Amino acid sequence: MTVNTQNPVPAPPGAGLLTEALLTRPPVSVRAAEFMARRLKGEARFRPHQQNKDELSPVIWWRGIGMEALRWGLVLAGLYERGLQNAMDLRLVHREICMPSLPEDLSGFRILQLSDLHLPRRRPEFAAKAAALVTGVDVDLCVLTGDYRWGYYGPLDHIPEQLRQILAGVTSRYGTVACMGNHDIMKVADVLESAGIPVLYNEGTAITTGRAVLWVCGIDDPHNYGCDRLDLAVQDAPDDAFILLLSHTPERISKAEKAGVSLYLTGHTHGGQIRLPLFGALSKNAACTREQAMGLWRHGTMCGYTTTGLGTTDLPVRYNCPPEAVILTLRRA
Ligand SMILES: [Fe+2]
Repeated sequence: MTVNTQNPVPAPPGAGLLTEALLTRPPVSVRAAEFMARRLKGEARFRPHQQNKDELSPVIWWRGIGMEALRWGLVLAGLYERGLQNAMDLRLVHREICMPSLPEDLSGFRILQLSDLHLPRRRPEFAAKAAALVTGVDVDLCVLTGDYRWGYYGPLDHIPEQLRQILAGVTSRYGTVACMGNHDIMKVADVLESAGIPVLYNEGTAITTGRAVLWVCGIDDPHNYGCDRLDLAVQDAPDDAFILLLSHTPERISKAEKAGVSLYLTGHTHGGQIRLPLFGALSKNAACTREQAMGLWRHGTMCGYTTTGLGTTDLPVRYNCPPEAVILTLRRA
C-alpha cells in the first residue's frame, strides 16, 4: 500500500483502522493512471452515449426489448408483483468458511459482504431498508464487491449519501473497502473514495492481527473492461499472508487459485435473480460453473463465496433467489 498525503480524504468518524490509512492515498485516477485510457475506452464501448440516458435506460436497445418482453410475460402470468415483493425481502445471512490453511489468529474473523447494491436513485426506500437490515452488525471488516448504481447510466450523486446511510449502523474494526463492478464507470471510484470508502483497484493492503497477516486485495471488474490485474493485486503480499481477493465476478477463479489467493469473495450473478425450480438460474451472466454462481464453493485449495447481492438490475424482481447481505465467519478447520 502506498501512503501519500496528497489529496487526502478525511476518514468519516468510526471509519476503522484500515480505511483511515487507505484514505490518505492519492485518488484512483492517479494510482491507476496506467489503466485509465483503456478503462474509459471500454466504458464507451459497453456504455455508449451515456450523456443521453438515465437510470432506467437499458444497456443496449435489444436487451431492453428482451427485458420488456420478459416483464410482460411475468405480468400476464400473474407473477410480477410477487417478484417485486421478493426483491425487497432483504435478508441478513450467516455463513462459516472452514479452511485448514487459515492462520490460527484469523480464526473467528468476521467479514460483512455487501454486493450488487444497485442503489436506485428514484427509490431511496431501498437504501433505508438495506440500512435497517445491517444496523447493529459488528464485524472485523466490511467489503463491498461492486455495482453501486441501479442501471447502467445516469447521475451518481445519490450514491455517497445512500452508502453512508447503509453503513452508518455497521461497526467494522478495520473499516470498509470496495472493488469495482461492471456497472461502475471510473467516476464511481472517486465517488466512493470521496464518501470515505477506499477502493482496491488492482492493489492490496495488509491487516496484521496477532501473528497473522491478512492481505486484502481487489481487482477491477473482470467482466467488461479487461483492466483487472490480479498479479498487481497480490504482488506485495508477504510470503506467509492469507490472501483475500475481492472480485466483482467469479470469472478469475482458476487464475486466483494459481496466484495464491485463499479466499475469493464475489457477486455479480445475483444468483441468477430469476431461478426456476429444478432448473436453477435462467442466466448466470458470467463465465463460471453453476456451482460458482451462488453460495459457498471450493476450487483446489481456495474457498469462495458468491453472494446473490442485495439489489436487482434490468428487472426489479427476484424468484427463488432472496437478496442478501452476508456475514462470513472464517474458521480454521
Ligand atoms: Fe450486479
